[in-house]
Amino acid sequence: MNLPIGIFDSGIGGLTVAKALLERLPRESLYYVGDTAHMPYGDKSVDSLKEYAAGISQRFVDAGCKAVVVACNSASSNALDTVKAAMGLHVPVVDVVQPVVNWVARHHPGKEVALVGTRATVDSGVYQTKLAEANVMMKVRATPLLASAIEEGFHNGTISEAVVNAYFADQWTAGTEALILACTHYPLAMGQIMAVLDEPLTVVDGPAIVADAVAAALAHLGLGAPEDAPQGCHRFEVTDWTGSFAQGARHIMQSDLNLQEVGWTGL
Ligand code: DGL
Repeated sequence: MNLPIGIFDSGIGGLTVAKALLERLPRESLYYVGDTAHMPYGDKSVDSLKEYAAGISQRFVDAGCKAVVVACNSASSNALDTVKAAMGLHVPVVDVVQPVVNWVARHHPGKEVALVGTRATVDSGVYQTKLAEANVMMKVRATPLLASAIEEGFHNGTISEAVVNAYFADQWTAGTEALILACTHYPLAMGQIMAVLDEPLTVVDGPAIVADAVAAALAHLGLGAPEDAPQGCHRFEVTDWTGSFAQGARHIMQSDLNLQEVGWTGL
C-alpha cells in the first residue's frame, strides 16, 4: 500500500511545494492540510505555531503518513521539533529551511544573499544562524503583508504591486547574489518582485529544492512509491473553508481539488 506524504502550511503557500513534489514524484500520494483557520502563521507566537503543528501532525499520524513535509517557513523555523516529536523516529520530516540552506551554502559560499520572510521566520533567526555557520552573508527583511495578500488572491495586480513596492522599491537587495523567498507563498509574487528590482537577482527555487530533498529522503529510506505504481491520489483539507484557498489552489495546481473542510477542533 502506498501511504501518503503529509504536507502542511497555513494556506495555499505550501501548494507551491506540493506542486513541485508531484512534478518530481508523480506516483506519491499527498495529504495536504491548509490551516486556514490560523492563517497567517507569520504573525503567531512560537507557542501557537507549535500547538497548530502538533494538531496537524496528529492527523498525519492517524492517516499513517510515511513522511511529512513542513511546507511553511514559519512552522519550519519555529515548530519543527514539535512535528518530529509527534511523528516519531521512523517517519522522515523534511522542512523548507534546511534544504534551501544547504543549496545556498553550495552555490553561494562566501557571498551575500538577500532573504525575505514572515516575521515569525525572520525573528526566529534560524536562517541567519544556519547561513552564518555556512559562511554566507545575508541581508534580511520581514515582509509581513505579502503572504496575506497572496492568500487573498493578490499576486499579480495593483494591490500586490503596492505591497511589493513597499518592501522592495528601495533596492535594499542591491549587491546580493541571490534572493531567498523564505515563505512558500512568495513564489506566486515572484514576477512582481523581479519587476521592481533594478538589478536582476537569482531567485532560489525553494519548492524544487525541497522536492529534491523529499525524493532523496524517501529513496534513502526505501520509502518511495514503486516504479510501477499508478499516479498518486491526494487528499486536500482546510481547517476553515475560504473561497480564496479554493481559488488559489486551482490557480497553483491547475485543477479543481476535492477540498474538504475539517475544522480546527477536529485536529
Ligand atoms: N507560507 C508560510 C511560510 O512559508 C506561512 C505564511 C503565513 O501564514 O504567514 O511562512
